[in-house]
Amino acid sequence: MCGIVGYVGPQSALDVVVAGLKRLEYRGYDSAGVAVLSDGSLAAAKRAGKLVNLEKALVERPLPSGTTGIGHTRWATHGGPTDANAHPHLDNAGRVAVVHNGIIENFAVLRAELEERGHALDSETDTEVVAHLLAEEFSATADLAEAMRLVCRRLEGAFTLVAVHADDPDVVVGARRNSPLVVGVGEGEAFLASDVAAFIAHTRSAIELGQDQVVELRRDGVTVTGFDGRPADVRSYHVDWDASAAEKGGYDYFMLKEIAEQPKAVADTLLGRIDAAGSLTLDEVRISTAELREVDKVVIVACGTAFHAGLIAKYAIEHWTRIPCEVELASEFRYRDPILDPRTLVIAISQSGETMDTLMALRHAREQGSKVLAICNTNGSTIPRESDAVLYTHAGPEVAVASTKAFLTQLVACYLVALYLGQVRGTKWGDEIRAVIRDLSKISQEVERVLKTMEPVRELARSLATKNTVLFLGRHVGYPVALEGALKLKELAYMHAEGFAAGELKHGPIALIEKDLPVVVVVPSPRGRSVLHDKIVSNIQEIRARGARTIVIAEEGDEAVAPYADHLIRIPATPTLLQPLVATVPLQVFACELATARGNEVDQPRNLAKSVTVE
Ligand code: M6R
Repeated sequence: MCGIVGYVGPQSALDVVVAGLKRLEYRGYDSAGVAVLSDGSLAAAKRAGKLVNLEKALVERPLPSGTTGIGHTRWATHGGPTDANAHPHLDNAGRVAVVHNGIIENFAVLRAELEERGHALDSETDTEVVAHLLAEEFSATADLAEAMRLVCRRLEGAFTLVAVHADDPDVVVGARRNSPLVVGVGEGEAFLASDVAAFIAHTRSAIELGQDQVVELRRDGVTVTGFDGRPADVRSYHVDWDASAAEKGGYDYFMLKEIAEQPKAVADTLLGRIDAAGSLTLDEVRISTAELREVDKVVIVACGTAFHAGLIAKYAIEHWTRIPCEVELASEFRYRDPILDPRTLVIAISQSGETMDTLMALRHAREQGSKVLAICNTNGSTIPRESDAVLYTHAGPEVAVASTKAFLTQLVACYLVALYLGQVRGTKWGDEIRAVIRDLSKISQEVERVLKTMEPVRELARSLATKNTVLFLGRHVGYPVALEGALKLKELAYMHAEGFAAGELKHGPIALIEKDLPVVVVVPSPRGRSVLHDKIVSNIQEIRARGARTIVIAEEGDEAVAPYADHLIRIPATPTLLQPLVATVPLQVFACELATARGNEVDQPRNLAKSVTVE
């Protein structure tokens, strides 16, 4: 939630910051603002709505030029998306400006104290108090980093803060607790951002900030300390993708580009994880094989699309390892007092590595003594940093709010973890593991093949643009696929969409079926557990008899479904457990096209943000 950028160096700070905000707009697009230091004073501009509104305002009333600046793109929490609530927030003298991501939980108390001391606060945000507190501490210390440390020690909640002060013109100061903030180090310049995408066009050299740290950015270097003022250890790293990876590359939307990148993303996630003999070598899983042999329960925690990946992983983990596996929405997990102990392996799945619900769930699990393995797409983010081990997906940056390539690579990573557990514990023979790996290695081409046959799916989506409801049915691993298809449609097309276990329909939801209601059915392979296949064919007949318009996703060669399909979408034949890797792709295309047909913003659906860093 919210994107933050800070810059100090020889370039126009405004240009660097606005370009950075464009790359972070996926994090929130309720309002945007910038502040620049120029000739000993501070100039700021902010506008409700998307970044384009701010850009227009900057054309109408340009800011003076300067080489130190900060910027923000907002996903509103406290206070509606208005000009007044947009960041940056300034103190009463207009000398300090601050931008913030997160929630300051004790802001009401701090605000009351400030008002008692004569400060006038104009916004409804939790952030504005920080500008005023910084101004007070700066007048006592004349040191912005020290002022930030003093203020942070009084704040409760989750926050990333970035500030500048007109009396300290070549310095940008940032602070982080529970929300992301990365430093970019260039030649004679430095950057701060919520995500490396904001500065990747300038430098690929990054520093990961730890929990409760303050960073002081100057042209000639950066200094990192803890909130207590002690020098902090930091990790530097090289970003292994370049600016083009964070651009649309000729596609109309990031989502289309990211759907098209799936064959590569799937292949990349497998790369380097299989040795010459065909065994798995998950070096990053730093939990010892002895500990993995002791595991007696796996618990997966995740949100949204990552949760659906977890639901599918359960089938593979239990089938290949015979270890019981629970899958839980991260936002519910710690509140129900889950039974955890050192023999429980908790797997936290997150594209961003910053989802607060998932982070809190993993912290809870570690407090109970469980080991946590993160499956994550974002190098250096908080979730892998706070886990005992990490398996990175190599999907590359995912910018569109709707998750696509991250989902497929999360599935691949989950299959790898399940097989690895099977390998370590001896519940799968080497040749069985190699056979699954061979099947997984073919998936990239199969996804490519699915992508080439999507025109009828797009056409179908366009023909349904005026419908209000679409239902999705599946059985076995097709059930989470149905949930994922429904989630994609809700978030992109703003339609009523529900995913159901097909067998559950007769227990209530079948009452929803009416004439011409589109129902998408994900059909399991007839070559797997044929009983499942036969039962879903019956389910299709049941809904068709009640007037549903059936949209059937079935593997090539499955002729049994053809008579009952109003629309038949073919996917390549794959082993049962791997079918979600191909069956999900038409649903992504379907949702994207329906959103376009309904005139919705594909990459930035209403009310949403890519990375949800509040609980
Ligand atoms: O970054 P994460 O994987 O932790 O994000 C979890 C969900 O917020 C995310 O998958 C969300 O549901 C997507 N918008 C779905 O497309």
